[in-house]
Amino acid sequence: MPIVSASREPVPGFSFAEERFLDLGYRVIDEAAAYLSEIADRPVWQPMPAEVRAAIRNQGLPEGGRPFEETLACLRELILPYAQGNGHPRFAGWINSAPAHASILLKPLAAAMNPNCGIGEHAGQELERRAVQWIMDLCGFPVDGSAGVFVSGGSEANFTCLQAARFWAAREAGWDIRKRGVQNVGRPLVLYQSDQGHFSIRKAVEAMGLGSEAIHLVPSTASFQMDVDQLARRIEEDRRAGLHPFCVAATAGTVETGAIDPLERLADLCDEQGLWLHVDGAYGAFGRLDQRIAPLYSGIERAHSLATDQHKWLSVPIDCGCALVRDGKVLHETFRLTHAGPEEEEHEAWMSEYTLQRTRRFRALDVWSVVRTAGRSGLASAISNNIEMARFFAHLIHAEPALELVSAGPLSIVRFRYAPATLRDEPRLLDRLNRILVREIQQRGGAFFTSTRFLGRETMRACLVNYMTNKADIRIMIEEIRHAIEALALPME
Ligand SMILES: Cc1ncc(COP(=O)(O)O)c(C=O)c1O
Repeated sequence: MPIVSASREPVPGFSFAEERFLDLGYRVIDEAAAYLSEIADRPVWQPMPAEVRAAIRNQGLPEGGRPFEETLACLRELILPYAQGNGHPRFAGWINSAPAHASILLKPLAAAMNPNCGIGEHAGQELERRAVQWIMDLCGFPVDGSAGVFVSGGSEANFTCLQAARFWAAREAGWDIRKRGVQNVGRPLVLYQSDQGHFSIRKAVEAMGLGSEAIHLVPSTASFQMDVDQLARRIEEDRRAGLHPFCVAATAGTVETGAIDPLERLADLCDEQGLWLHVDGAYGAFGRLDQRIAPLYSGIERAHSLATDQHKWLSVPIDCGCALVRDGKVLHETFRLTHAGPEEEEHEAWMSEYTLQRTRRFRALDVWSVVRTAGRSGLASAISNNIEMARFFAHLIHAEPALELVSAGPLSIVRFRYAPATLRDEPRLLDRLNRILVREIQQRGGAFFTSTRFLGRETMRACLVNYMTNKADIRIMIEEIRHAIEALALPME
């Protein structure tokens, strides 16, 4: 007799009868549709009132199961109104994009299937193999012979790639790092990063047991790109000092200004010196889809590894990054089971053999659905539009007497600060006012920027990665800055 779930009684607390499942499902989808359609009319962000925070924190653990309707009501009241704000077209904080609708809609199916995309032979793993190749293609990374895997984000993508780099470097020097580790073996490994590189590289190096002193910071040029001449000198010095330079961690789209390191020159130097070239493209790798700036990425195809983040500029819901390695065998050797039995030897590599995680969620479905629905051209036009909007924003900032444009381009990050002529001689006061101002803007709810120190000064930073943001939004963002200055009774010039 066939066993069909319709013939099974629901298991209280775990499954619903089909009719109820449908009814609740429609309610959830109504809720999601309302959330998305109203998003642009709501505050970008609003602080959580103390009573809401307390209600969340003080919830008792239910001893008996509660009706799903009650859970939905709680969500509506306590959670949905206090979202982070990404998704709103005037949210420009950190690098958090809006989720593309195609992948939102498929979430229930991914959860219904709930495959472990780390092991076994099934469509989930097969789809990942292909979706990863699409990511290579979009970024201009060679597909043949390469391997890649979806991970939680840019940090883990960097970590995964750098582990492959370390494995490779040790093997070149004749030692098996998986077996002998990093303790007292060989000369100390050294990795290079520019002073604009992301701190996730540092975290990865620390987690790999190399110690953060293994990172040698290379100064950047006036355009915030790694200074290749200084890098070359440093490598020579380090070799003379008995160290083992093994990797250059370049960036294609720095978190600070969106600068893209000179990849072609770095690839030449790495070839010459026998170093692994890693590119952190967590923010910027997909910027290459904009034909106007694509030449800046020349050389990316020569990188040994590339970290990308689909949950940034590809509008895939959080979380999803991707680690790509040019020599796929190296990635496999870095993570495959060291004591593989006959079962592992017989089948094509499972995705868990390319990463630390064994049980893995169905990230490929998110990526596949977004790329399929937007297509290369749709992705490119959303990204170009963001770059265009960033240029427009920078142009308006430049025209504001109270504001100073600190950096703009080549991607979609604009840095600026409040610095009216009357206060320019008071750097500490300006630092404080910039911090207060950004908070005021956030709390007003009309726009959202973040503030960070840059070049020794407090600045505000807008990163435009939302496919909806248009010129009207940009104008409102500027107005919001003006209103906040007025509300704080600060000088306008
Ligand atoms: C250049 C760069 N690398 C790495 C990361 C880390 O990515 P994630 O936050 O997805 O871990 C970021 C995040 O902003 C980034 O901009």
